[in-house]
Amino acid sequence: MSLAHTNLAPRAFDSELAAQYADLYTRVSDRITPDEWAVHLPYIDAIRSLKSLRRAVVLAHNYQSPEIFHGIADVCGDSLALAQRAADSSADVIVLCGVHFMAETAKILSPDKTVLIPDSDAGCSLAESITAADVRLLRQRYPGAPVVTYVNTSAEVKAESDVCCTSANAVHVVESMDADTVIFLPDKYLGKYVATQTRKRLILWEGSCEVHERFTGAEIRSLREPGLSVLAHPECPPDVLEEADFVGSTAAMTGAIRDGKMDRVLLITECSMADNLAIEFPSVSFTRPCNLCPHMQRITLPKVYRALRDMAPVVEVDAEVARRARRAVQRMLDIGRREAA
Ligand code: 13P
Ligand code: SF4
Repeated sequence: MSLAHTNLAPRAFDSELAAQYADLYTRVSDRITPDEWAVHLPYIDAIRSLKSLRRAVVLAHNYQSPEIFHGIADVCGDSLALAQRAADSSADVIVLCGVHFMAETAKILSPDKTVLIPDSDAGCSLAESITAADVRLLRQRYPGAPVVTYVNTSAEVKAESDVCCTSANAVHVVESMDADTVIFLPDKYLGKYVATQTRKRLILWEGSCEVHERFTGAEIRSLREPGLSVLAHPECPPDVLEEADFVGSTAAMTGAIRDGKMDRVLLITECSMADNLAIEFPSVSFTRPCNLCPHMQRITLPKVYRALRDMAPVVEVDAEVARRARRAVQRMLDIGRREAA
């Protein structure tokens, strides 16, 4: 049923609406201007109402923009946290504010729920880099080598894999394999990083993240100053990771800032995350060379509103593909979060 003509259409921005959300605006006002707030707030208000009507939960990745991350999300986190919450959610509807592989993973884990993605073109260069047929060929070329697959892949690729991993447990997942040689797909940079942390021989694929591969070691050196803590995501090239004081998933970087008593942070990852962290840690000063993920940025408040209003686009995964992919994802969830922070 379309709710386009009910009173859940966004209200006009006025002083009454602004007063209702005054506390929220105080929290985000360093990153969202009053003019932007006047555009965002009617959607934030309408989405909050639609969430209760639909019994929906909004899961948002750490790279979502502040109006989504702080304005409408019920759960924020890295890929592993979003998968864990999708698996144990009691909501009828999951709205995944992130990219398509994250929404597919939610559907694989919660086949009976309606999973919505506000823009089904929100892809990922890593997921695009490999197909299920590629995985089958690699298995023929390296008989007996188990396949560890980063979650940044399609459901079909997960279905061909022995186990999935995220950046929050990649090293431990590889270490848990009962083999000396492991096929690790598809991120060559995450794979190279994992190879520095294990004695196993890794067979890598030529995939990369179009956002993180743009950082360079020279760029980090040019920004380096005394007192600055450099935190980097393991999707970055090796010369970047060599310059970092801390390497970890988006959740681990957040944890390191929370626990590390850091005053000044250079965050080497997608730069919306620094906006979200600047709101969460107002006493920390962030330096951020700004690389944005064009796929994450496709998710906007009007699209989230329309997704919940129209209950579309719905994410579907073929039942047999989902059954096979679920084994690999569940095996990863059983291992859980295993990183330093
Ligand atoms: P995390 O799992 O660390 O959040 O990373 C996901 C991702 O897409 C990084 O580019
Ligand atoms: Fe994919 Fe990179 Fe965007 Fe993450 S930041 S979703 S790995 S393209």
